[in-house]
Amino acid sequence: MRDSADALEIHNLSPEPADEWRRLLRFVGLNAEDRRAMSRTVEALMHRAPEMVVDTYNYLQSVPETAAVLGWEAGFDEAHLEERRRFFTVWLARVLGMDTSDEFATYLFRAGKYHAAHGPRHIHVPPAYVTTSIGLVGAAFACCLGAAGLPGDIIAPAMAGWTKYLSVQLHLMDMGYAVAREMEPGDFTVTFALFGHLRTTAGVRELTARAGWVALPAERPQRRPRGGHVHGGCGWRASSTSPPGRWARTPVTTTSTPWLR
Ligand code: HEM
Repeated sequence: MRDSADALEIHNLSPEPADEWRRLLRFVGLNAEDRRAMSRTVEALMHRAPEMVVDTYNYLQSVPETAAVLGWEAGFDEAHLEERRRFFTVWLARVLGMDTSDEFATYLFRAGKYHAAHGPRHIHVPPAYVTTSIGLVGAAFACCLGAAGLPGDIIAPAMAGWTKYLSVQLHLMDMGYAVAREMEPGDFTVTFALFGHLRTTAGVRELTARAGWVALPAERPQRRPRGGHVHGGCGWRASSTSPPGRWARTPVTTTSTPWLR
């Protein structure tokens, strides 16, 4: 926090999804050769895509833990199943189209946020099931290509590419999940008004996060911030009064970002 009682700075912001996406795609080295190899398997995968979608949710419903996450212990909720299949079909179509656009990064980030119970259904999907489901998608691709009778020298380089690509997707979903969860703990809510670049990037004018109280050493004067502006273009207001004793609002040194479309 800066010296002025009205000032608040945010440190350690996590990168924007599109920057992280490009950085990690570079890191795994997904190149034109990978894309060529992957594209040789797209037709076989596309052919079996509807079956993969149906199998995915049959499986999630058949496992008690994931059935509980989805509220499907007693069987499918047909409307929700239709919605999940529809969204998964869209995702799979984008995967098979080898989408590496910045917009896809935002989409994956938002999916991660939804898995953190920040979506319309407020369902918390433990990350272990998302991580391992990505593994199951890779396994389904390998099985499908094997069953299609494609030779090993087509399947192996293609699977190398798909694996790299899916791992970066998982990272973007993990990032969205982590950022959403970081907004949750704390003693009071802080509403930020976003301006300039932050507003454009986040696609919202206001954002609410939670923050905590920290005890101040006895000799330090008590400071009661009244609200103010965040360096770089946000305003904030807090929704609670401090507990008795010497307290100050913690600086928001969170790694979370408002990229929460
Ligand atoms: C391969 C791994 C996964 C991918 C790629 C994926 C993808 C997505 C996407 C793209 C969305 C956002 C849909 C939208 O735009 O509205 C979403 C939401 C959701 N996913 Fe996943 N998902 C995965 C794993 C799982 C698992 C394992 C579960 C449950 C056990 C799950 C449950 C949900 C639920 C319930 C929502 C909606 C949440 C809400 O509307 O509040 N997902 N997922």
